[in-house]
Amino acid sequence: MTTGPLRMAVVGTRGQGERVAVPTIATSGAATLVGVLGSSTERTRAVADRLDVPAYPSLEALAGGGVDAVWLTTPNHLHASMATWLVERGIHVLLEKPMAIDVGEATALAEAVAGSSATLRVAYQHRFRPAHQQLCAQLRRGELGEIGRLRVHRHWKFPYFDEAPGTPPSAWRSSPAASGGWSINDLGSHLVDLALWLLDARSVTVLDAVFTRQFPGVENDTTALLTLRVGERCVVGIECSNVLASPGSLVEAYSPTGWARLTDSFDPVSTTVTSLAPLPVTTTCDDAYRPMLEDFAAACRGEPSSGATPAEALLSVEAVQAARRGGRYLEDLP
Ligand SMILES: NC(=O)c1ccc[n+]([C@@H]2O[C@H](COP(=O)([O-])OP(=O)(O)OC[C@H]3O[C@@H](n4cnc5c(N)ncnc54)[C@H](OP(=O)(O)O)[C@@H]3O)[C@@H](O)[C@H]2O)c1
Repeated sequence: MTTGPLRMAVVGTRGQGERVAVPTIATSGAATLVGVLGSSTERTRAVADRLDVPAYPSLEALAGGGVDAVWLTTPNHLHASMATWLVERGIHVLLEKPMAIDVGEATALAEAVAGSSATLRVAYQHRFRPAHQQLCAQLRRGELGEIGRLRVHRHWKFPYFDEAPGTPPSAWRSSPAASGGWSINDLGSHLVDLALWLLDARSVTVLDAVFTRQFPGVENDTTALLTLRVGERCVVGIECSNVLASPGSLVEAYSPTGWARLTDSFDPVSTTVTSLAPLPVTTTCDDAYRPMLEDFAAACRGEPSSGATPAEALLSVEAVQAARRGGRYLEDLP
């Protein structure tokens, strides 16, 4: 059992590793950064020198270096194999989403976690936004009745951050094989996880999936519209896009006797929660990553956790893979 702050390494030194994992660890008492590993030795060393921590030359060196846990922020196609390797050595893993791009790999990873002393959670930080936690609690208590329709809408145009206009996505994001789908995994996988978590889903069926490919020069999906069946009586709508503008995100739940509508609940401030029970409230959340990391550390200590478990994250992989296999691509239609 791990006690005290986790001795945590970050694997992947660019994007999510540099922008999120490193500063989140630095501002949280739940973990201490003990080293970094990227794909390039030079860049790993440069980042490590700047942070004043060791640069690991390999995963083997990291595993031999007294590390309790890894925040794994490598590209999607590397998630399952690297996480499996780590948990088999008893190292806890906070794995960036998606868990895997293939159901077989995700299942093998879930089995590896079950057979090890390690804990794994998948980094679905939007679960930790107060508005989402509040709605989840209301739904679990049955206050809104039996939900027959849940809709999650979020668009976020690429490039997601203040990068030079016209910057193309990285090679792995542009590749359907390496990403497992672009908009559907960058954005949609979060929305699917949120919907399944809110509904406490045990299984999911994809009823319909429509994709577009509308980013110039990229043969990967940019908008995904999914219709899912959860349980016997709930139809879930997932809408995500990284090319289309939108006035803001929505999470909506409807039952014969109640409803809730969350506006902009994926954004840091100004979440409007309107619901039949209780009265409308506004919540703010400037950082969903810190509570996620704290929850992960608690899970590693064997304490209750609301982070995405392997079994839960596997459901999202199943939905995404089924949608991509059975879906229609607008540009391919006659
Ligand atoms: N939770 C969220 O909301 C969220 C947000 C953004 C991204 N993510 C996830 O984070 C992951 C990375 O996305 P990103 O935007 O950070 O991508 P990125 O900017 O391309 O960074 C990927 C990093 O992985 C490193 N890498 C690649 N192969 C490696 C290997 N074999 N061993 C060690 N490091 C390796 C790269 O090393 P070099 O620096 O040497 O090239 C790079 O630092 C994706 O799975 C994405 O879905 C999650």
